[in-house]
Amino acid sequence: MLLKILLGFLCGLSSSAKARAAENETSSQGPLPLLLVSFDGFRADYLQRFPMPNLKLLYSEGVLVEQLTNVFITKTFPNHYSLVTGLYAESHGILASRMYDLDSHKLFKAGKDTDPLWWNQTQPLWITALDSGYKTAAMMWPGSDVTIRNRTATHFSPYSSSVTFQERLGNVTNWMIGNGTEKGVMFAALYWEEPDRSGHIFGPDNTTAMGNVLKEVDDNIGLLISELKRTGLWGRVNIIVTSDHGMAQCSPDRLIKLDDCLSSDDYMLVDTSPVAAIVPHKNPEAAFDKLKKCHTHMTAYLKQSIPDRLHYRNNQHILPIILVADEGWTIVQQGDKLPRLGDHGYDNSLPSMHPFLAAAGPSFRKGYRTTGLQSVDIYPLMCRLLSVPPGPNNGTLAQARCLLAGESCMDAPMVVGLVVGVLLLLTAITLLFRLLKSRRPSGSRPFQRLQLDDDDDDEALLE
Ligand SMILES: *[C@@H]1O[C@H](CO)[C@@H](O)[C@H](O)[C@H]1NC(C)=O
Ligand SMILES: *[C@@H]1O[C@H](CO)[C@@H](O)[C@H](O)[C@H]1NC(C)=O
Ligand SMILES: *[C@@H]1O[C@H](CO)[C@@H](O)[C@H](O)[C@H]1NC(C)=O
Ligand SMILES: *[C@@H]1O[C@H](CO)[C@@H](O)[C@H](O)[C@H]1NC(C)=O
Ligand SMILES: *[C@@H]1O[C@H](CO)[C@@H](O)[C@H](O)[C@H]1NC(C)=O
Ligand SMILES: [Zn+2]
Repeated sequence: MLLKILLGFLCGLSSSAKARAAENETSSQGPLPLLLVSFDGFRADYLQRFPMPNLKLLYSEGVLVEQLTNVFITKTFPNHYSLVTGLYAESHGILASRMYDLDSHKLFKAGKDTDPLWWNQTQPLWITALDSGYKTAAMMWPGSDVTIRNRTATHFSPYSSSVTFQERLGNVTNWMIGNGTEKGVMFAALYWEEPDRSGHIFGPDNTTAMGNVLKEVDDNIGLLISELKRTGLWGRVNIIVTSDHGMAQCSPDRLIKLDDCLSSDDYMLVDTSPVAAIVPHKNPEAAFDKLKKCHTHMTAYLKQSIPDRLHYRNNQHILPIILVADEGWTIVQQGDKLPRLGDHGYDNSLPSMHPFLAAAGPSFRKGYRTTGLQSVDIYPLMCRLLSVPPGPNNGTLAQARCLLAGESCMDAPMVVGLVVGVLLLLTAITLLFRLLKSRRPSGSRPFQRLQLDDDDDDEALLE
């Protein structure tokens, strides 16, 4: 075991030297185009549960992050926006699928709302990268068709479920190639709605249904690889394939009926499950007192007491009370049946809520695997790949740089190897020293031993 760690340490050192040489090679050509692809609702453990030959091919030639810790709430819009901004939801402002503005009484519905009120709190990478003189593209990614701070990506398409993956991909590769004198796109974000859609309908535990949809997703990754090869982009662009969140199994036996605790006349329900956002009509404290003891599988928070670790408090659009259901529980209003067999939105510390990340291309290490990373770290990583100055964000490159071929990196196994190696060396030196010292005065040994027997501090004397 120790030997293995030491070997790992030595390999780490030699590979970082190789990495520095590789950096030299690529830096002379400038940054390479980057394609970011999201398969919505791809729970991390689908990778172990289902065969995904094309995805395996992709990360065997690149890197795999087995679990990405995403942001609260673990919903589609907040998390897709965190990927392209590096910000927690409270800082980028896309807090939920449904939001409400207490001043203007405007309601936000994900996918239908391009009002700058919701979107102008920051800007995504496809806007920031324009300032580096790049062309960019946003293909059906949440926010693609929104004019953010008066700008959009160079090319974009609003979401339409009737456009196939192949068509979306064809448009994106066309934009990346450019034509003749026109330079191609340097950063493109591409969205696909599966396996999220099927996960909601059938539940993640339905192996037959999920097996079918994940085969389709893997076929799409196969299409991605062959399309990049056909167009000559493969090997000349960097590719990140990731997702926004996972999926939990729900059940009609795990319903939390809100109106058992509070009359629906007393509040407005803005967002429902698994994180309900509530605006009480009268006294918020009184409503809170009823809601906090409503159900053992639901936690109620007043806005100001939402825990720090959720990074979900400091924003004008977080409503006075939020209710968070335990994993697999569904909050309903009385009379409602179970709406979905699978759901997400739950606490982002739950492994079932975590997606994965795979990446390949000239700037990534080959055959590297790591267990975890924060999803807010992807943004500074992408900025590094594109040489774009990152906007203010909550990510760090400390761990993410381990994915890159051009970076020397101290990842966790390497640090452990270093510490153990130094400890082993010190122990060996101490033992050797003791051995030499105990041999030297061999003639007087019996006498010395008699003396030492009287002395409790013999260890100290030997040193
Ligand atoms: C990087 O390239 C420069 C010349 O451009 C060369 O002098 C240097 O040795 C190279 N460094 C490595 C680590 O290959
Ligand atoms: C957007 O452009 C309009 C005019 O087209 C201008 O009045 C407004 O100030 C601009 N907003 C921002 C945020 O730049
Ligand atoms: C996208 O692809 C479709 C065909 O798949 C094509 O009809 C359409 O013109 C393309 N759009 C752009 C903007 O390239
Ligand atoms: C799983 O999904 C299939 C459809 O692919 C459906 O026919 C079957 O009833 C589902 N099984 C369970 C246990 O829900
Ligand atoms: C996240 O980043 C934003 C922008 O820099 C900053 O305002 C905010 O305080 C950060 N959040 C945390 C928890 O550090
Ligand atoms: Zn979903």
